[in-house]
Amino acid sequence: MNHFLDIHKTDATELRNIIDQAAAMKAARAGQPKGTPDAEQPLKGRMVALIFEKPSTRTRISFDVGVRQMGGETMVLSGKDMQLGHGETIADTARVMSRYVDLIMIRTFDESVLTEMSEYADVPVINGLTDRTHPCQIMADILTYEEHRGPIRGKKVVWTGDGNNVCASFLHAAGQFGFDLTFTGPAQLDPEDEFVGLARKAGSTITIERDPVKAVEGADLVVADTWVSMHDSQSSKERRHNMLRPYQVNDALMAHAKPDALFMHCLPAHREEEVTSAVMDGPQSVIFDEAENRLHAQKAVMRWCLGV
Ligand code: CP
Repeated sequence: MNHFLDIHKTDATELRNIIDQAAAMKAARAGQPKGTPDAEQPLKGRMVALIFEKPSTRTRISFDVGVRQMGGETMVLSGKDMQLGHGETIADTARVMSRYVDLIMIRTFDESVLTEMSEYADVPVINGLTDRTHPCQIMADILTYEEHRGPIRGKKVVWTGDGNNVCASFLHAAGQFGFDLTFTGPAQLDPEDEFVGLARKAGSTITIERDPVKAVEGADLVVADTWVSMHDSQSSKERRHNMLRPYQVNDALMAHAKPDALFMHCLPAHREEEVTSAVMDGPQSVIFDEAENRLHAQKAVMRWCLGV
């Protein structure tokens, strides 16, 4: 069963094939109206369930559009409107849904929900974000980096701010795609040791640098994310902002990266907090290509899951 649960749980060669297929599928539909079906219809006759226990704009729309372009059908479900949100077990939900649909994408809070869903489902399950990781985002980010600058292998990625779930998947990708990652942020928000250890074990150089200026020196890619994630309490907002303010990505910080460094943010962004509008809308920013590439990367992920 090809579940897409996390980047480090998927074979590196298969990840490379997914990225290459995403690039090819994107190229094949270049310039066509968004609603144009793909020439190939690998999901024809397939039903895909998209479950959201947290808000989403990009994940919801890109999965829905992607399935339709490939000839499939979707149902978008809110966790709280299902019996899942009213006491039915995840295991029973997974077994029932497997009788109706060919593929399940779930965005949830605790990673254990995703894991249990995958253990009991008879169909592939895709991680659409948990509190701990966000692999689909990083597949889109790899695609985006490579279409602008070529292979990401051997490059230096700098993560600024909170070592959150998106940072975790970047660490997984460092090990699998062979790039180095420097984390710069306050010690209280360091990424999990387990994820740092996995990337190092896979051969990547992972550096923790408290000084953001030193961190971005020689960077090929600078990445920011929101300072308060969906699973963080709003009461922690002021404390987190105070800790993270020195790590804002602005023109002064970007000036220390390589001149051709790219800037990424998975969005939604809080302008003038973790990043200035000047950087977001500036020439080094590829944030909207990243958002578009969610569509192309996930289409290739779904094909891999279904073997079609
Ligand atoms: N980046 C991302 O996952 O966006 P959404 O929360 O809008 O899906």
